[in-house]
Formats: sequence, structure tokens, C-alpha cells
Amino acid sequence: MNQEFKVVVADSSHIGYAPQICKEMEESAKARGTGIAKRSPDYLELKMDEGKAVIAFAPDCTWAGFCYIECWGHGEYVANSGLIVAPQYRKSGLARQIKKKIFELSRAKYPDAKIFGLTTGLAVMKINSELGYEPVTYSELTQDEAFWQGCKSCVNHDILMSKGRKNCLCTGMLYDPKDHYTPEETTKEFKKKEKIYERFLHSKQIQFLKNLKKHNILFAAYSFFINLFLHNNH
Ligand SMILES: CC(C)(COP(=O)(O)OP(=O)(O)OC[C@H]1O[C@@H](n2cnc3c(N)ncnc32)[C@H](O)[C@@H]1OP(=O)(O)O)[C@@H](O)C(=O)NCCC(=O)NCCS
Repeated sequence: MNQEFKVVVADSSHIGYAPQICKEMEESAKARGTGIAKRSPDYLELKMDEGKAVIAFAPDCTWAGFCYIECWGHGEYVANSGLIVAPQYRKSGLARQIKKKIFELSRAKYPDAKIFGLTTGLAVMKINSELGYEPVTYSELTQDEAFWQGCKSCVNHDILMSKGRKNCLCTGMLYDPKDHYTPEETTKEFKKKEKIYERFLHSKQIQFLKNLKKHNILFAAYSFFINLFLHNNH
């Protein structure tokens, strides 16, 4: 599919789309069987009103995708969260366009902030690498309580807490404006390790979601392994 999407900074004229976007976020999380920090339509409306969101439309003007900005640690960190592409428009490069737009918006609004994300998806890891993000351990992310409170509504919250908030199913990625590689470098690195990441993510997801309690020990091993891997390759 090769479509011309319209990808714009959202404003108050878009608030009517909030319920549809929320519904799609929930349904996609269910379909993936993975966790999600749940957001209400009101919260998305606020993001649109504040000009802290990006919304995309297909050529026929149907809603196609969304993402928003959150600030943590008194503006020291910024997260680009809630990325969603409507199922019928996936795999046509739209997430890449939305992420680029929200990244540019974040850099313009918060030039000194570190930009980070938590993800279980290879597509997002790939796009983040292209933007200059690097995989990091959770200790390098914001320690703002309010951010971690958002994980409470995730199905994997017990895992996060059992690991003392040091690890979970998601991979943390960070763009530090003061200390980062060029997107070319991180993309090259990601391409080299893509298959390994894919295997890690796949194994992590299968094992975790089968039976969390039963496989607690296995989880610890995987967590340890991925942290070791990230550290050694950082
Ligand atoms: C993840 C998601 C946003 C990707 O959107 P998309 O528009 O299909 O992504 P793009 O077409 O821009 O793809 C970007 C890259 O990721 C790859 N990709 C896309 N979906 C993928 C998947 N499920 N698995 C692995 N790679 C994938 C694409 O092949 C492309 O790489 P390439 O250019 O090297 O071929 C979309 O599937 C979605 O909304 N999923 C549900 C919500 C979600 O998972 N959000 C992310 C939360 S962190």
C-alpha cells in the first residue's frame, strides 16, 4: 500500500477522534496480549488541546494514527507515548512518519529534554533507532513516580514491581540531546542486531505471557540476559 497520509500536530478541532483512538489503543493491546498504560478520551483531548499530540489521516480523511507527548521529571524527560496506527493502514510507513513528526515536535518544544520510550514492539525499536534513540536500562529513564504510575494499568505491572522497577517486558530507549549517536550510527547498529532483538522480544513475550508465576525464574534469567546484552552493546 502506498498512500499519502496527512500527519499534523493535533489541536482542539480533533478532540472528536479521542474516543475512537482510545478504543483502538485498547483493542490493539488486547490483540497483542501485551500491556498498555491505559488512557482516557479526556486525557487524549487534553493532549490535543495543548498541542502535544500528532494525528494522521488517510487521503479520504479517515483517522489513521496518533501519538502524544508527556513530560516527566519537571521537563528533564519527555516521552512519546501511545503510538497507534489504525489496523487497515499498518505496514505502509505511517508509524515512521508519526514518530518523526512527534520527535520533531518534542525537540522543538523541549530542546534540552531527554526523549524516551518503553516498547514491546520491534517496529518501534526500529523507528526509534532511526531517530537516534539507543536501548538503555530502566535506571536511565525518568524516575518520576507519576510516569511509573502509568504502568499500573498494564497487565505486566506485577512483573515490573517484582523486578523492583528495574526491568519488564518493555525495552527502554532513550535519545539524549547532549550525548547521542547520529541516527545513521544507531540505525546501522540496530540493523546488525535486529535478528537478535527479534529473538529476545519474541522469547520474552512468549515466556512471560504463558504463565507469569510459573515462569518467574525464567523471567529473571531473560531479564538478566537482556540487561547484560544492552550493557555490553551500549
Ligand atoms: C506498531 C505500529 C505502530 C506500527 O505501525 P506501522 O505503520 O505498521 O509501522 P511502519 O509501516 O511505519 O513500519 C516501520 C518499520 O517497522 C516494521 N514493522 C511494522 N510492523 C511490524 C511488526 N509487527 N513486527 C516487526 N516489524 C514491523 C516495518 O516493516 C518497517 O520496517 P522496514 O521499513 O524496515 O520494513 C502498529 O502496528 C500499531 O499501531 N500497533 C498497535 C499499537 C502498538 O503496538 N503501538 C506501539 C506501542 S509502543
